[in-house]
Amino acid sequence: MSKAPPGPAEHNVHAELIAGLRAPSPYISPKFLYDSLGSKLFEAICELPEYYPTRTEAEIFRHHGEQIAQACGTGATLVDLGAANCAKAAKLFPLLRPTQYVAVDISSEFVQGAVAQLRHRFKGVDMQAVGQDFSAGFALPDTVGAHRRLFFYPGSSIGNFRPDEAVDFLTRLRAQCDADGGLLIGIDLIKDPAVLADAYDDALGVTAAFNLNILRHVSRLIGANFDVSGWRHRSFYNAQRQRVEMHLEARENVSVRWQGGMRYFVRGQSIHTENSHKYTLSMITNMLERTGWRLEHVWTDPKEWFALAYARPAQHFAAGAR
Ligand code: AVJ
Repeated sequence: MSKAPPGPAEHNVHAELIAGLRAPSPYISPKFLYDSLGSKLFEAICELPEYYPTRTEAEIFRHHGEQIAQACGTGATLVDLGAANCAKAAKLFPLLRPTQYVAVDISSEFVQGAVAQLRHRFKGVDMQAVGQDFSAGFALPDTVGAHRRLFFYPGSSIGNFRPDEAVDFLTRLRAQCDADGGLLIGIDLIKDPAVLADAYDDALGVTAAFNLNILRHVSRLIGANFDVSGWRHRSFYNAQRQRVEMHLEARENVSVRWQGGMRYFVRGQSIHTENSHKYTLSMITNMLERTGWRLEHVWTDPKEWFALAYARPAQHFAAGAR
């Protein structure tokens, strides 16, 4: 079977990946962690004892559900950013009773499957799956209600952006909301570096597999010949930049080829695959206020390991003013 010629989106993906591999400090964007297997490996990570964010965020929802529902109100268009298996949003349905549910995820087939299942469980809710990379820009289909959008961005996915990129992203989200919209966002907090280190380097090696799988995904996308066994998972907390970094380190000298090019990596050289930025509560408030949002409420767990913030559009905000 012959493949259709690549469309503009695929050309961009090629160019983006190859630019990263050729860079003096090579990198691959963390969004490429999420092919079908990667999405499943991330689901497994969420169940690891070391990976506290998912269960801590769930605990916040359990303890403060009523207050959260009161703050957010019911009947919104719930836009779930990075919805994956839609499990977090599904738990909120009884509380938030959305009129419309829009699940956006770069892992298109994965999210479509999840929404197809969810339709059976919540028959009265209009549901749509949108397979989209929303990291660089934002284009929701016309079928998404414009009034009273509640953006749901849980799990501290915002941590994948550098702080300046997070500011741009939040500004763009704000521009997609009318005065009755809102943002419910989960953000991981700065804590003991040992806890952070373990969360991204678990004993079972699930995070290592998740990180290494990016090489298989990239190999498929650009016809590269990455050999996963030649690379090692590395992660650490960078205290100065307040982020956990993931890298893949070459075990030996290796040349990697792809369609139309190649690169030589020396033993010990690494490819940067993810940043996971951590914040303080005051950094969160500050970031929201700079981007046209007014923080209405923030909930945390007793250890203050994770924060769930609800923000409303600030009045009199001139878009672009910072
Ligand atoms: C999905 C981006 C929130 O940064 O903690 C988990 C991804 N990377 N383990 C995170 C991830 C390694 C996760 N986010």
